[in-house]
Amino acid sequence: MRRSVMVTGATSGLGLAIALRLASSGYEVIATARSEHKADRLRAAAAERGVRLSTVLLDVADASSCRQALDQVAEQSDGGPWALVNNAGIPLAGAVEDIDDEAAGRLLEVNVLAPARLARLVLPAMRRRGGGRIVNISSLGGRITAPGMGWYCAGKAALGAVNDALRMEASPAGVHVVLIEGGGYASNIWHKAADGLKELAADGRSPFVDLYRAAEAPLRAGATLPAPEPVARAVERALSAARPRARYVIGTQTRMSMIADALTPHQVSDHVKRVALGAAGSHKLVEYVARRWCRPW
Ligand SMILES: NC(=O)c1ccc[n+]([C@@H]2O[C@H](COP(=O)([O-])OP(=O)(O)OC[C@H]3O[C@@H](n4cnc5c(N)ncnc54)[C@H](OP(=O)(O)O)[C@@H]3O)[C@@H](O)[C@H]2O)c1
Repeated sequence: MRRSVMVTGATSGLGLAIALRLASSGYEVIATARSEHKADRLRAAAAERGVRLSTVLLDVADASSCRQALDQVAEQSDGGPWALVNNAGIPLAGAVEDIDDEAAGRLLEVNVLAPARLARLVLPAMRRRGGGRIVNISSLGGRITAPGMGWYCAGKAALGAVNDALRMEASPAGVHVVLIEGGGYASNIWHKAADGLKELAADGRSPFVDLYRAAEAPLRAGATLPAPEPVARAVERALSAARPRARYVIGTQTRMSMIADALTPHQVSDHVKRVALGAAGSHKLVEYVARRWCRPW
């Protein structure tokens, strides 16, 4: 029997790469989109790749949309998906001082509460079957915090904590819960983040206007990073391994950044992070190292 996998936020970037790869590998992929138009484009992308997947409409920030989507998925798949990949996520760039409760609340709703809510919805069927997998897509930002990205990093750090608790709680029922920690990959997230910074800079009242103006171009350059295939491969490994790891850290650079951040005195790492975002000038070599190694997203 083909194993069903629900992938949230599959209309672009990492989610699209994950959905297409899993479909190519023989999983029965149920990919979620926020509109019919995007769902059509998603199915067209799959057809172009020569694979099949089905789509379900889902806004992860809306609890009733989550319930409806899961009801639909349950009809297609023995009461619920064999695996859930919590990929949908949003960026939020801006200094903590400039981000209001509404924006921070939305970030936490989409990036933290929604993955936990969806896990609650799929777990009863997984428990009944005595097995299943939940994969949460996190980032280097869950381990390393940078100026101007406090809320995004807080969301990913919180997702890591929820993931770890869930892993310990669900494992006796045969459900494996896995965190994927990626570095930087090409996707729409960079332009979305840069648009947010542009808006904050346009306001003009922030003490961080210079940081926002300087950081916009490096953020937009993120869209030219490598394609997110390594993340899709890691998700496939997490689904196919008999005993998946608790966390998959993707790429040497991501691992090195985590180690360097843990070992470096904060006076040094704070400076390097500010340089990486263009918030501080420095020696050319420091600027190179900062941009090369410090992309906490
Ligand atoms: N890009 C990176 O370098 C990187 C690295 C590590 C981790 N990540 C994580 O990877 C995940 C995907 O990000 P991405 O970089 O691929 O960005 P992206 O291209 O902007 O994709 C985000 C996906 O999430 C969907 N989404 C956003 N809000 C949603 C909501 N309320 N309900 C349902 N779907 C929603 C988007 O749908 P719409 O098209 O409708 O907006 C889109 O399909 C995120 O969790 C992100 O934090 C990204």
